[in-house]
Amino acid sequence: MFKSRIKGVGHYVPEKKITNDDLSKVMETSDEWITERTGIRERRYMTEGIDTTSSMGTKAALLAIERANIKSEDIDMIIFATLSPDYYFPGSGVLTQRELGLKDIPALDIRQQCAGFVYALSIADQFIKTGMHTNILVIGSEVQSKLLEQSNRGRNVTVLFGDGAGAVVLSRTETDNHILSTHLHSDGTDAEHLALKFPGTAKEGYWITDEMIEDGSFLPHMNGPLVYKTAIVKFPMVIKEALEANNLSSTAIDLLIPHQANLRIAEFVQKKLKLRDDQVFNNIQKYGNTTAASIPIALSEAWEQGKVKEGDLICLAAFGSGFVWASALLRW
Ligand code: ACO
Repeated sequence: MFKSRIKGVGHYVPEKKITNDDLSKVMETSDEWITERTGIRERRYMTEGIDTTSSMGTKAALLAIERANIKSEDIDMIIFATLSPDYYFPGSGVLTQRELGLKDIPALDIRQQCAGFVYALSIADQFIKTGMHTNILVIGSEVQSKLLEQSNRGRNVTVLFGDGAGAVVLSRTETDNHILSTHLHSDGTDAEHLALKFPGTAKEGYWITDEMIEDGSFLPHMNGPLVYKTAIVKFPMVIKEALEANNLSSTAIDLLIPHQANLRIAEFVQKKLKLRDDQVFNNIQKYGNTTAASIPIALSEAWEQGKVKEGDLICLAAFGSGFVWASALLRW
């Protein structure tokens, strides 16, 4: 069996900043309400004609490739995690492949929402372990602003989310610095409690109807209290699982990068695991929840700030719609 290591990491966020005060001009909300409950102060929205899910993913990927010190042609697989693909089909992976000018290599899209990046990393790790691939581009990218209604009706969801992309190059390594383990879980019992159901094939008909627009059922739906209650159980559970699998305790973690769902959730997890402030990285204040992109954006920023160093023990953990939850423990 081979081992895999993150060789390069990059991110891209669109230029347009949307503050809490900007949102309060179009819906009944306030900076105080949003900050108190979520920690979010601003988020980025894509610019029409410039940003798409795949173009942002490509920009993040090019930076990750440059930092990995390899050429685009060295990439032999793309795994693209997103809940907001450019098209219903084909996936954003092939669009990124086209933008990068890479022909013939496999491109796989996965739909694991907020846990998408950790799932994608785990899939890439398996392909490298078996020797099938050597340098895999793992991307998380989201354009969520187009799915959000800028009104009172959509406000409970709208205030939480933003756009952005992050990427890593995962490569075969001979060193002791590699992914130690990954842990993936799901439970579909509450699938509809955090969901965007339409357009979809579950209901009679397919397209979004006038009735759905009227009653708001075409919008993303979130049962906030249930998501909160479940997330604060699953996050610590899946982090402990990763630590136990490697005979380590939480004191060994140099940096935990949790999916940036909500600062209150991250703070709860930090307390539960008795982690110091310098052991946890959060940037939701600037970007909101960017779903599959949140962990690679945070990883890239933490790396740029010198908070991810050679030999560090890095823990990535995520929870999201499905529900799905996952962790990865890495020796950087
Ligand atoms: N601004 C002002 N008021 C609002 C807003 C808003 N943006 N949204 C909802 N409200 C109102 C509600 O209408 C309600 O009013 P009412 O009491 O008159 O009916 C009141 O605020 C309280 O609403 P709740 O939904 O009960 O608010 P709560 O205190 O539970 O906070 C929140 C909502 C922040 C979403 C919370 O439930 C939470 O943190 N849930 C976790 C969900 C989460 O983090 N999701 C992230 C995405 S999923 C993921 O990444 C895993």
